[in-house]
Amino acid sequence: MKKIIKAIGLMSGTSADGVDAAIVEIKGKGLDCKIDLIAFKKFPFSKGLRELIHRASTPEYGRVDLICQLNFLIGDLFAKAAIGVVKKAGYKMKDIDLIGSHGQTIYHIPKGKPPSTLQIGEPSVIAERTGVTTIADFRAMDMAAGGIGAPLTPFAHYILFKKKGKGVAVNNIGGISNVTFIPADGDINNVIAFDTGPGNMLIDSIVQIITKGRMGYDRGGKIANRGEDNERLLNKLMKHPFIKKRPPKSTGREEFGYNEALKFYKLAKRDRLSDEDIVATITRFTAKSIGENYKRFILCKHDVSEVIICGGGAKNLILTDMISREIKPIKVKTSDSYGFPPETIEAIVFAILGYAAISGIPVNLPHVTGAGKQVVLGKIIPAKTGWKQKLN
Ligand SMILES: Nc1ncnc2c1ncn2[C@@H]1O[C@H](COP(=O)(O)OP(=O)(O)O)[C@@H](O)[C@H]1O
Ligand SMILES: [Mg+2]
Repeated sequence: MKKIIKAIGLMSGTSADGVDAAIVEIKGKGLDCKIDLIAFKKFPFSKGLRELIHRASTPEYGRVDLICQLNFLIGDLFAKAAIGVVKKAGYKMKDIDLIGSHGQTIYHIPKGKPPSTLQIGEPSVIAERTGVTTIADFRAMDMAAGGIGAPLTPFAHYILFKKKGKGVAVNNIGGISNVTFIPADGDINNVIAFDTGPGNMLIDSIVQIITKGRMGYDRGGKIANRGEDNERLLNKLMKHPFIKKRPPKSTGREEFGYNEALKFYKLAKRDRLSDEDIVATITRFTAKSIGENYKRFILCKHDVSEVIICGGGAKNLILTDMISREIKPIKVKTSDSYGFPPETIEAIVFAILGYAAISGIPVNLPHVTGAGKQVVLGKIIPAKTGWKQKLN
């Protein structure tokens, strides 16, 4: 295989706010490879598309014809994002060796019989439009092997953030919050990773409810900053069974979506909370649920020298400040201090997972996802030239 691989990672998370596209250079092999970020660009979805995705992801409204068409429409937008980030970098598409695409999750039923998951954004469309070998549908193989298909990020978080002799936790705050703890001994088999519960998802929904859709999120945490959290409602929220559930665990819009937010909003209004207090309370809940998970499943057994926050939630300064207070005296930083802006991490992760697929490296961690064994993740759509010829 070539010495330096140039890979694009494409990601749209449960927030359905748009496609994140990153170009990275990968040097070296396997767990010891080094990653350089070359370019990153976010391609926001229109409000209309965001609503269509939310509708498609809801059992009451998600029709098969809608999902079928969205698969190709989103594939096209992902292809445009790949082309756009290549342009931004001043590269040509032929410089790129592979694309790893997470796609857009429409539904995820880890505890179904059988467990199942659906990410859309047709990779054939991406490979055809870009001419680059595309790898997608990473979750399916872990689930086929008996896992819950999430989180898949620990392998890549390990490559990006492991620190000699120090335990670190990487916390991605997207729609959902997920943590990867990398122990001081650096043994990937001792990594702990799971979803802690809501990330920005409940905050976003509450802000959309109180602003009647004028705002999509609490920019910088400004609304929460003007309010005060309500202890009684906070305690009620903390009774959510997902928080105390033991890992492996993963969650999504099914548990912390709009309906859950609306229920909480109505309850808070009955108690005459101001809009600001409602946002402050839901933000505090998000932080406290993260802190509680750390205490129950990580801090009881391990030392954590620092928590590295990534994902869009890193921009909500009130949220990060509240997290910091929940787990003090542990240092809380953003991934900027490692040279990777917080919004770039998830896209970088899928560039790395694409590389792993092409290299035949299994990247699921069975003790994390519950899978019966390690498996190579992803479906490979070869570009015109074929991926083997290009990478050799
Ligand atoms: N400036 C900001 N202030 C507060 N929150 C922000 C800001 N920018 C992004 N976010 C939050 O981050 C979310 C998107 O984060 P992202 O990591 O893309 O999540 P996902 O992986 O679920 O798509 C937005 O929906 C919003 O809640
Ligand atoms: Mg996003």
